[in-house]
Amino acid sequence: MEVRKVGVVGLGAMGAGIAQLCVEAGIDTVGREVTADLGEQARDRIGHFLTRKTEKGQLEQSVRDDAMNRLSLTTELDAFADCDVVIEAIVEELEPKRQLFAELERICRPDAVLATNTSALSVTEIAAATSSPGRVVGMHFFNPAPLMPLVEIVRAELTEDEPFETAFALGERIGKTPIRCHDTPGFVVNRVLIPLLNDCIRVLDEARVSPEDLDTGMKNGAGWPMGPCALVDLVGIDVHVHASEALYEKTREQRMAPPARLVAMRNAGLLGRKSGRGFYTYD
Ligand code: CAA
Repeated sequence: MEVRKVGVVGLGAMGAGIAQLCVEAGIDTVGREVTADLGEQARDRIGHFLTRKTEKGQLEQSVRDDAMNRLSLTTELDAFADCDVVIEAIVEELEPKRQLFAELERICRPDAVLATNTSALSVTEIAAATSSPGRVVGMHFFNPAPLMPLVEIVRAELTEDEPFETAFALGERIGKTPIRCHDTPGFVVNRVLIPLLNDCIRVLDEARVSPEDLDTGMKNGAGWPMGPCALVDLVGIDVHVHASEALYEKTREQRMAPPARLVAMRNAGLLGRKSGRGFYTYD
């Protein structure tokens, strides 16, 4: 299917990043937030990153303006009625996602592809909330979505070929490197990355190394682009703990379980960059 219009539900860090990619690729995009204010905050965020690109000579001013004009905002799901693909990036909880997909099924065209950006929940369980699970697929982006090249295109148990390939082609069109995988806990990258990051956090206590030294170690000894503590701060400590819990629940592998230190940080409101403090402090 040729994708002319994309809908993005939820314009937090991930949703705004996905919407940015779509408008930059020349696709009319409608973004939905629960309040108009939150929608405007996302528009500002996208505008800010596109302006930085023009300032750095990576994007013509007119191209930036055209991209911004392709973005429309709504608080109503009805605005997705004419979308070819809708990408969900709301809170990482199963029930709200299932409710949303049931509603999207009612509103969207029967041939529209319904995609979820879930990182640790089952795409199959989300799809099962609809009576047309064949058109539900995972499109799992990485944080920050505009900068990280990968998108995992996730085939749930009943995903049909055409919606799957439409999602894959959309991933390529918005400049990503898509990979195909099946709906298993953590898909490909998080299946490896989440226990690895948990190991890193446990090493903080075991080896009595500071977050700064651990980060220096992994950057300079393993070639990571950023250290594990900085990465967990970027992802969000609440998001990482939540993803770890979801994977632990599914696999019962001890390494998936969130380290006590991270749970304590989450409970104390130290959420990383977004709260201004995690392993590091931010302005
Ligand atoms: N959205 C859009 N643009 C952004 C952005 C964002 N969130 N963040 C930064 N940018 C833009 C900025 O304009 C910035 O330029 P200025 O500072 O001049 O304004 C530009 O991108 C470059 O930013 P950086 O200088 O910070 O870029 P960098 O070269 O240092 O690379 C990085 C940053 C890509 C994040 C790199 O450090 C990296 O690859 N880190 C690893 C990230 C990673 O592993 N992510 C996966 C997390 S796991 C996950 O997401 C899975 C999950 O399900 C939870």
